[in-house]
Amino acid sequence: MTVDELRSAFLRFFEKKGHKILPSASLIPDDPQLLFTVAGMVPFKPIFWGKVEPVYTRVTTCQKCLRTNDIENVGRTPRHQTFFEMLGNFSFGDYFKKEAIIWAWEFVTEVLKLEKDRLWITVYEEDEESFKIWKDIVGVCEKKIIRMGKDTNFWGPAGPTGPCGPCSEIHYDTGLNEDCSDGECTPANSDKRFLEIWNLVFTEFYQDEKGALYPLPRKNIDTGAGLERVASVVQKTGSNFETDIFKPIISKIEDVLGVEYKKDEQKDISIRVIADHSRAVSFLIADGVFPSNEERGYVLRRILRRAVRHGVLLGAQKPFLHLINETVIEHMGNTYSELKNRKDLILEVTRAEEERFFKTISQGNEMLRDIISRSSKVIDGEDVFKLYDTYGFPPDIVVDVAKDYNLKVDLEGFEKLMKIQRERARSARNNVEYAKSQEIYDELAQKSKTVFVGYDTLECEAKVIFLKKSGTKYEAVFDKTSFYAERGGQVSDVGQIVWDGGSASVEHVFIPVEGIIVHIINVEKGELKEGTKVRLIVDREKRLSTARNHTATHLLHAALRKVLGTHVKQAGSLVTPEKLRFDFTHHKPLTDNELMSIENMVNEIILRSIPVITEEKSYKEAVAEGAIALFGEKYGDVVRVVKVHSFSEELCGGTHVKNTGNIGLFRIISESAISSGTRRIEAITGSNTLNYLRVKEQLLGKICEKLGTSQDEILSKIENLIEKNINLQKELQQFKSKLLVSQLKQTPFEQIKNIRFVHCVFNDIESNELRNLSDIAVAGENSTVALLFSTSKDKVNLIVRVTQDLAKKIKAGDIAKYAAQILEGGGGGRPDFAQAGGKDPSKINSVIEYTRKLLEQN
Ligand code: SER
Repeated sequence: MTVDELRSAFLRFFEKKGHKILPSASLIPDDPQLLFTVAGMVPFKPIFWGKVEPVYTRVTTCQKCLRTNDIENVGRTPRHQTFFEMLGNFSFGDYFKKEAIIWAWEFVTEVLKLEKDRLWITVYEEDEESFKIWKDIVGVCEKKIIRMGKDTNFWGPAGPTGPCGPCSEIHYDTGLNEDCSDGECTPANSDKRFLEIWNLVFTEFYQDEKGALYPLPRKNIDTGAGLERVASVVQKTGSNFETDIFKPIISKIEDVLGVEYKKDEQKDISIRVIADHSRAVSFLIADGVFPSNEERGYVLRRILRRAVRHGVLLGAQKPFLHLINETVIEHMGNTYSELKNRKDLILEVTRAEEERFFKTISQGNEMLRDIISRSSKVIDGEDVFKLYDTYGFPPDIVVDVAKDYNLKVDLEGFEKLMKIQRERARSARNNVEYAKSQEIYDELAQKSKTVFVGYDTLECEAKVIFLKKSGTKYEAVFDKTSFYAERGGQVSDVGQIVWDGGSASVEHVFIPVEGIIVHIINVEKGELKEGTKVRLIVDREKRLSTARNHTATHLLHAALRKVLGTHVKQAGSLVTPEKLRFDFTHHKPLTDNELMSIENMVNEIILRSIPVITEEKSYKEAVAEGAIALFGEKYGDVVRVVKVHSFSEELCGGTHVKNTGNIGLFRIISESAISSGTRRIEAITGSNTLNYLRVKEQLLGKICEKLGTSQDEILSKIENLIEKNINLQKELQQFKSKLLVSQLKQTPFEQIKNIRFVHCVFNDIESNELRNLSDIAVAGENSTVALLFSTSKDKVNLIVRVTQDLAKKIKAGDIAKYAAQILEGGGGGRPDFAQAGGKDPSKINSVIEYTRKLLEQN
């Protein structure tokens, strides 16, 4: 049975048992608690949790999963992988333990036809019910049902809190000999001989932050069977890597890197690492992850770079992984069409990152070799830090290499240095003052809160509830405020505060702790005290300009996804009154056409004057409607959704215009890369666009004035000027050449015996010019040796020419080599033509003198 057959046999089996077959969800879960989909149950977490009602109560999937917690073991064992497929059947408040157990047994014994006497069962020690089902209904002999503790037989939650429950596993006895210390081998004491092939989780609890368990509203089933692992049993390969799903990948690695699998265990490890990682890399990129130094992008970078490093161990000297990915795409693309659809993206992104890493490793490896040679037992944290800090050489690779040399790595020391560096960076950002206030605000938040009324009004009456001097300024907290605090990329409002007998300007507003809004103010007149009643007035123009840019940012985001694809994800943004800046994941520069389509699309939505609607709703409602969730909102939180009908819908707390028509003309002013795989667009709106265009127009006007022409004729005028300039340069060049030739010709030559010895020093000329002059020096001559120098302040170039008739006895190359030594540089060449360069022009005479002596001796 091939892996493809196994996958579909599983899904069909459960379909017959009333399950809906659903496609695999993305590797990037819509789940603020997780970076990746780590199990088949992840897409259904909100259903298990009771936050979302299921459409189907029985579901079966084959889910793409990624786990990197054991990455160091990948390649070293037959069963560890990062990317894998998990078969699963799920019940949401429908059937429970009995059916789950009976069907699992039916599938493994009747469909997969695994020998019953090789199967063992484990159950949670307190789960008598499962024990009885296995023993009495299924008929497994009691001796082969092992009761085990919470560490092995209780699964979840996936994330810090969430649904979880006791589980029961099916293990396969591979028959491998293993010495089990306490007599007979069982799944409890032998993890080499027994292979866990299926985990049945009875998801009936919710676990909170403290680890306390509470019953869930429904009792659920979540089963998971690693596809490749089950395949290794069915195909009797003894290793996931020898199943048919890995075969073509391994063959490709053999071809591309010129190695042979199963010849040398050390090399096999590297081959398996590459085989596994090429799948992870392909699937991650297909799901929209790009290599970066943060979160998901960092994990991808780490996996990709680990694969490359193992390639290097096998002798690779240039990018190869993208070629392996081609095979992954070819062989898995029918099952996972995203691979085929994003083929170019996967290959391009992989290749670019490989190229970057090849550079890093060649530099880092040299330093690492040096470090290893002077380390006994442990590699110093400081060395790991230096490698990381200087070359971006990843610490996990150091760990990996260290393993091969039986060295440990002082990661604690490394972390300490990283922490110091982070702290240094933080204080450099000038947040020290705010950090000191943090405790005060935490305390204040226990007693009071600031109510934000600024979505509806720009002015309000309020009372000072807290005031603190901070340098020449004050930090002020009010019971209410219309000022928007910096958040979600939008800068804070600025404005005025007035009170009886006084006034202050508001320079910055921030939220040190949820519920407290702090205003940094400059008191201009009078005295402000706690308890004072004030009027808060937001700068209207600035707020409106910011709102234009913020709504335009949402439109830009939507247009980018429509024009470039849904792999585009926001990677940061800054919204100010002057402009908007939007960073997003995309692997290559945007073409002029793409930029134009995006700009047009945004302007079209503006011209259609569509109302911008903001609504508050629960997170799950918002996400179910398709709102783009950007930041880790917690389930259950009330969120604000900003909608532009049928075009854009985002969760966002910022301030927006009421209608897209208010934005005015939207103009992209720059597009650039900020790191690999991340691009940045800057754009302007409203009167900023008008001003921008005016400035450009004025500039054009000034250029016309200077050139004495009109806008219509400016282009041909500039073309004329350029042409004229080129001609002038040519003429000048010819003139200069003539001068140099005459300098050469006027230089008297020395007659040494019957040899003409020409030497001439020119002032800073191009090397091709020097070469031409050397041709002239020997043209039509016999028995000539010519040394032509060009000097500048601390540089000297030399061309040595020897005519053919002398070249057997006197070699230009030898003279150049000697000259190079004297001039402190390099040099060499043929017997008739050679060059040298150096740093010391004062030694020119010594070179001439040396040559003179050489000729005299001939
Ligand atoms: N969630 C369980 C696991 O990952 C069963 O699907 O093992």
